[in-house]
Amino acid sequence: MSISIDNPPTINWTGQEIEIIDQTLLPDELKVIRLKTVEDVVDAIKRLAIRGAPAIGACGAYGVVVAIDQITTNEVTQVISEMNEAAETIGETRPTAVNLSYAVERVQKTAAEGKSKEEIREFALTEANKIFTEDRDACDSIGRHGAEELSAYTNLMTHCNAGRLATTGIGTALGVIYGKALAGQPVEVFASETRPLLQGARLTAWELSNAGIAVTVIPDSSACSLMTSGRVDAVVVGADRIATNGDAANKIGTFTHAVSAHNAGIPFYVAAPITTFDPETSNGQDIKIEQRDPNEVRGVEKSNVPTEGVEIWNPAFDVTPAELITGIITEYGVLRSDYSKSIEDLLSKASL
Ligand code: MRU
Repeated sequence: MSISIDNPPTINWTGQEIEIIDQTLLPDELKVIRLKTVEDVVDAIKRLAIRGAPAIGACGAYGVVVAIDQITTNEVTQVISEMNEAAETIGETRPTAVNLSYAVERVQKTAAEGKSKEEIREFALTEANKIFTEDRDACDSIGRHGAEELSAYTNLMTHCNAGRLATTGIGTALGVIYGKALAGQPVEVFASETRPLLQGARLTAWELSNAGIAVTVIPDSSACSLMTSGRVDAVVVGADRIATNGDAANKIGTFTHAVSAHNAGIPFYVAAPITTFDPETSNGQDIKIEQRDPNEVRGVEKSNVPTEGVEIWNPAFDVTPAELITGIITEYGVLRSDYSKSIEDLLSKASL
């Protein structure tokens, strides 16, 4: 089986600006928009025009270059100070995906070694390009390792979108699916719709069907009975932050899928690049979970939920405990329990 991918890149640096696909408009409209200022970058990340942990990392990295271009002074200390201020604003835009703060801080640190404004910009851009390329290559490796690990499984369930739209490459969880297809293995996907913003129904379904991969969208609430029916061989999802004990934060609903998979006796995999591991966080309870606008749940225009007297709880992510994870597929291979040990080995190998 082959895959066909001919959509515009999810994120592209033009030389002066960041081009992104505005994912809020998919699947109805495929529109590329340009981010020209720090405000544009922050707004795009906040409203999920660009989303997915590695993709917002790359966007934040180029955002620092955009910030430097907006600085009017040439005085080096002032340039660095203004760059740091903008970088902090970008890095804090979404709190759960560690890829964002990691990428922004990496660019900031390298750029600060510049001895002139031109050099600061050059160093920043080189580092942002590296982050972009490293993520693309990591996705390819995750795809290869995942295809090998999941070679016996055809019917895979995934949640949210951890594909081309969420990375600079072929994706992490969907990278595994593309990896299987590229290796000539049969693969069919159940994509849970991912309430409230429907990344599964809108984005994963769009992305996979465009690539010629069979995809069936299911309501989130049907996942447990589908898994129990025997129609799902394995679950593979992405991650936004993985603690050093293996607890993995990902889109809200992932934990529920992991419990359902456990109940059904189905393997549950997380696929993520090393940039999603957080050496500073020892367990999932310490991961900050982003709370989003209650209107995402209320249904702003249609007013599906009574507006008076009803509270909304709208966490963007949840944490799947390490003991429910069969393996973590990384660009360096598949990690297994004991995760504290295998993650420590991984992080020291990659000197993160
Ligand atoms: O809120 P989103 O759409 O940014 O959430 C994205 C996810 O939860 C993805 O699964 C995760 O970032 C991994 S993307 C490779």
